[in-house]
Amino acid sequence: KNESTVSITVVGASGDLAKKKIFPALFALFCEGCLPEHFSIYGYARSKMTDADLRNMISKSLTCRIDRSENCEEKMDQFLKRCFYHSGHYDSLENFAELDKKLKLHEGRRISNRLFYLSIPPNIFVDAVRCSSSSAASGNGWTRVIVEKPFGWDSESSAALTKALKQYLEENQIFRIDHYLGKELVENLSILRFSNLIFEPLWSRQYIRNVQLIFSEDFGTEGRGGYFDNYGIIRDIMQNHLLQILTLFAMETPVSLDAEDIRNEKVKVLRCMKPLHLDDVVIGQYTSHKEGSTTYPAYTDDKTVPKGSLTPTFAAAALFINNARWEGVPFLMKAGKALQDRRTEIRVQFRHVPGNLYNQKHGTEFDQATNELVIRVQPDEAIYLMINNKVPGLEMKLDCSNLNLCYAARYPKEIPDAYERLLLDAIDGERRLFIRSDELDAAWAIFTPVLKEIEEKKTVPESYPYGSQGPVGAHCLAARYNIQWGDLGTGQ
Ligand code: BG6
Repeated sequence: KNESTVSITVVGASGDLAKKKIFPALFALFCEGCLPEHFSIYGYARSKMTDADLRNMISKSLTCRIDRSENCEEKMDQFLKRCFYHSGHYDSLENFAELDKKLKLHEGRRISNRLFYLSIPPNIFVDAVRCSSSSAASGNGWTRVIVEKPFGWDSESSAALTKALKQYLEENQIFRIDHYLGKELVENLSILRFSNLIFEPLWSRQYIRNVQLIFSEDFGTEGRGGYFDNYGIIRDIMQNHLLQILTLFAMETPVSLDAEDIRNEKVKVLRCMKPLHLDDVVIGQYTSHKEGSTTYPAYTDDKTVPKGSLTPTFAAAALFINNARWEGVPFLMKAGKALQDRRTEIRVQFRHVPGNLYNQKHGTEFDQATNELVIRVQPDEAIYLMINNKVPGLEMKLDCSNLNLCYAARYPKEIPDAYERLLLDAIDGERRLFIRSDELDAAWAIFTPVLKEIEEKKTVPESYPYGSQGPVGAHCLAARYNIQWGDLGTGQ
């Protein structure tokens, strides 16, 4: 029979990401009827566990988005019956060969398609790829591998990792995840730009004064200090998540929606960007803060962080794209942990209205407001446009108001998690939302010089209290370009 089957192996099944994101996303896809008829899921890790132990472990984090009422338990049972566990080392050809036997048993005589999700530390990526490709690749269908950052540490190490992976895999078998690309509003960026007439004509240096990409979290590295301290916020958030959003924001219209056409345009943006230098970067690290009876810890209070660490937990940067559309427009990035609130936003500040009638007549603060388009990726997904409007009444008073598309009101259905979309795309072989190796090289080329500079000069990060707006230096950086951060002060 020519039927096909998909086997999904989560390598590193007992890790945090697997428990919190991957298994729940697979379950959500199952509930929505998005997984193929014949599929099995395997957890692979070093710990000795039985199938029942795995099922028990993952059942705790599975939640049913639809069918919440009646079918949920039944669905969960059906799903768990398709989950199996295999204990093995990540660098053992033999252990992967045993896995292969199990996979074959379930696949029977169908075409076997295999997806490996490497949810393991980067230093064992290559071993796991070597062993899975040599001992457990499909004989008659496709074999794909999902890897998640960190993809190296700078240009050289990233290139070395790519080279090592390509000893065992073709580029089109490697699915590099950036989970921000699976977020609803990031995906919507292209729709907003390319299927509405009103935005695209404004989308250039002619009308846009600056673009701000803002990521903030209201919690510190609690517990993840070990990983984080080796990377820092620039590698953790800017070089990937924020830069990816920037490329989608700034790219030219692709020839088609085909993955290669889109990724070609993204790479062009990256290659037009000047490498970043320390003059255009501010780094910070959070210190402890006392509020009432609660004391919030400093970054270096985290037991997993080395004493005296200089790793930045905050960074702000000004980037430029040297092409006809964007020359001279600052793209400001800001990313930080332990800040005042949790949010990810794209803020587009438009230029002043030339010869503004209302500035001349009524020189009030309101009259100076320029339009700002805000795409709030999370939380409370929304797209809104700040416009000047007359306050109803007999006097001539202007007010800055929002045209607001609030997702919760307009689309009450829960938004799928980013991992659901990405896993589904990997199963379908849709590569649009995954990072190609030339994209990765170009992204590292922008950030590697400044990372080296910071590390060589042992630049001391500016301190900011836990729960604050971040270091003052971020305002100075923006002010140098005559910009105010939109999320503070006048912004909403
Ligand atoms: C990860 C970073 O890539 O993204 C984390 O390593 C960060 O430090 C996380 O907390 C944020 O993702 P999300 O989807 O919760 O915004």
